[in-house]
Amino acid sequence: MINKTIMKSKFSGRIFCGILMLALCGQANAQTKAEQATEAKINSVIKQLTLQEKIAMLHASGVFSAAGNKRLGIPDLMTDDGPLGVREAVKEGWGSANLTTDSATFFPNGSALAATWNPELAYRFGHDMGEEARARNITVMLAPAFNICRMPLCGRTYEYYSEDPFLNSRLAVQSVEGLQSQHVAACVKHFAVNNQEIERDRVSVNIDERALREIYLPAFKAAITEGNAWTIMSAYNKLRGTYCSENDYLLNTILKGEWKFKGAVISDWGGVHSTVAAANHGMDLEMGSPPPYNTYYFADKLLDSVKAGKVSEKTIDEKVHRILWVMYHTTMSDNLPAGSINTPAHSKTAYDIAAESIVLLKNDKNLLPLNTSAIKSIAVIGDNATRTFHLGGFGAGVKARYEVTALAGLQNRLGKTIDIKYAQGYTGDYKAFGMVNSPSHGPDSALIAQAVATAKSTDMAILFIGGNRDFESESRDRKDFGLPFGEQVLVDAVTAANPNTIVVVVGGAPYDIGQIKKNNSTIVWSWYNGSENGNALADVLTGKINPSGKMPFTFPAQLQDSPAFAFDTHDLAAYPGNKLTVDYKEGILVGYRWFDTKKIEPLYCFGYGLSYTDYKYSDLVTSKKSYTANETITATLKVANTGKYAGKETVQLYVSKTGSLVDRADKELKAFKKVEIAAGQTATVTLNIPVKDLAYYDVKTSKWVVEPGKYKLLAGTSSRNIEQDGEITVQ
Ligand code: BGC
Repeated sequence: MINKTIMKSKFSGRIFCGILMLALCGQANAQTKAEQATEAKINSVIKQLTLQEKIAMLHASGVFSAAGNKRLGIPDLMTDDGPLGVREAVKEGWGSANLTTDSATFFPNGSALAATWNPELAYRFGHDMGEEARARNITVMLAPAFNICRMPLCGRTYEYYSEDPFLNSRLAVQSVEGLQSQHVAACVKHFAVNNQEIERDRVSVNIDERALREIYLPAFKAAITEGNAWTIMSAYNKLRGTYCSENDYLLNTILKGEWKFKGAVISDWGGVHSTVAAANHGMDLEMGSPPPYNTYYFADKLLDSVKAGKVSEKTIDEKVHRILWVMYHTTMSDNLPAGSINTPAHSKTAYDIAAESIVLLKNDKNLLPLNTSAIKSIAVIGDNATRTFHLGGFGAGVKARYEVTALAGLQNRLGKTIDIKYAQGYTGDYKAFGMVNSPSHGPDSALIAQAVATAKSTDMAILFIGGNRDFESESRDRKDFGLPFGEQVLVDAVTAANPNTIVVVVGGAPYDIGQIKKNNSTIVWSWYNGSENGNALADVLTGKINPSGKMPFTFPAQLQDSPAFAFDTHDLAAYPGNKLTVDYKEGILVGYRWFDTKKIEPLYCFGYGLSYTDYKYSDLVTSKKSYTANETITATLKVANTGKYAGKETVQLYVSKTGSLVDRADKELKAFKKVEIAAGQTATVTLNIPVKDLAYYDVKTSKWVVEPGKYKLLAGTSSRNIEQDGEITVQ
């Protein structure tokens, strides 16, 4: 009987596998056929285009557009920023087009998304932004952006994800897939090593090949080879002396050669500096904003260069092919979705990302979650409590249809039962000094006195400090690491007036919060958290949401501890550069790789974040003790929620190579998983690491090499709190 059942189930299993194989083959065939049909259409269009018409498609024809071809019914290629959501329509000169139909959902900033450690949310972000882009008839969204957070002061850290290539890769792939599911091309940016804003248009990055391959390229590679991103944006800066927009090695050798990229390389706005070099070295579409567009490098000058035989017509055809390929997957694709904008589902995604991004840094007095039945009054203090973040600074923002501020969120959730009093506390104004931003003033004694009086008259105070979207901005780095706008003095004064003070720091990048960590009992980190900012924040503070965010970057105790500042700072070569060259002297030791290898205690480590509950890790086992190069390591462990609240925990799995023959970081993140666990329950968490992911990049052979020998597996709640370890051998 048993045997028969087994045989039957084996047999039906085989039938099922057979049907699945057939279905998959059918799907693959259909895909190949569709691609062949697209190929035929593209080639037929190219044959009918004149050289002038082809070149008209290779440069901007408006702030965000490149011409198609009316005669052949090819629509214009329309782009728009990202990554915070679909940017409002602008007219020539970047002024608002003053439409009433272009408000959009403001999604939490990049480092907020990264703090969720939740690739599913990255997919929903891409998907929903894609729907909004479709509704606005956009071909290419200039997103996601995920340059590595090399150092804390970079003005665009808030737009990017993290300091870790693996976390970046997992989020980038999902964002791209979500976006492109709506027939809108992702434009992954900025390729590559655009890790500072100071001199971004001129600076050359000197970097060793191993660091380039292991740290700065993996998320781009994953977005292209796994996520199948249809476009990529070249960075403004130079790599080893050559602009990224005309860098043969980056664009032709790596991107189009090794990664077999089939889509289009789009320049950053105004980022092309030559005609012949850029055209022959892989640039496909020159974008920029100011007219006259016929003066662009890829306009009349390109026509002349073709006529002079310096750029071949075959090269031009290849570029047009790539652009048409993008068009046929997007604006010209079959079954084009209609798109939708500002839907409740999009608000829900913005809310869910915000809710999972907030990081609980300290809760020593258990002031959180708020004991709302006992609290009668709260002082809400700080400019950031009433400030919105959808616009600001130099870079791309969103004309949000709405944005709930922190104060409004608290009033929404608690205003009926608790007396909420507001005091501004400080003004978040800044000044730009060349290419750096600095606060325009220190503490404001009148505002502080008002805040202190308010804090004294209430049961507790919630202080909202940090940066803002003007202060953290594209095209400028922050001048220093300190908390801006005299905030430390405000925090000290309010905490002295009311010991029941909760500090909520809002920012997109690390700041020096060492004093607060030392002196304050309760610290929460929040971000430029999208349309639902205040609601999500209030729900975390009141305990409706148990915080589950984990830091996507290391907070150094002091700037000099962080790798780009640790070398001889005298010549500024490691940052922001000497004679327009910045030397990535730390090599592969970026972020926690540096702190852990050099044994430097950070203020808050990568992956750190508390919860209202406690988790206990146990029983880490691997499926085998020894693996070969093509296998996948499967690690399983148990995580018990031992506290009173249900929660989500991100299990982080790091790998450390014992006795390596090459320089290695102390540990590297190789897998993570976020799981929801009810109070009192235990989850079994399985994490997979393909052995090939243990490889280092061997510069001598230009190959990825998996070193045989022993590897330690380290499972933890953060990069520094390792709860379980194991060991495997690679043969
Ligand atoms: C930024 C890009 C952006 C482009 C268009 C540039 O200044 O670097 O990220 O997509 O402008 O707004």
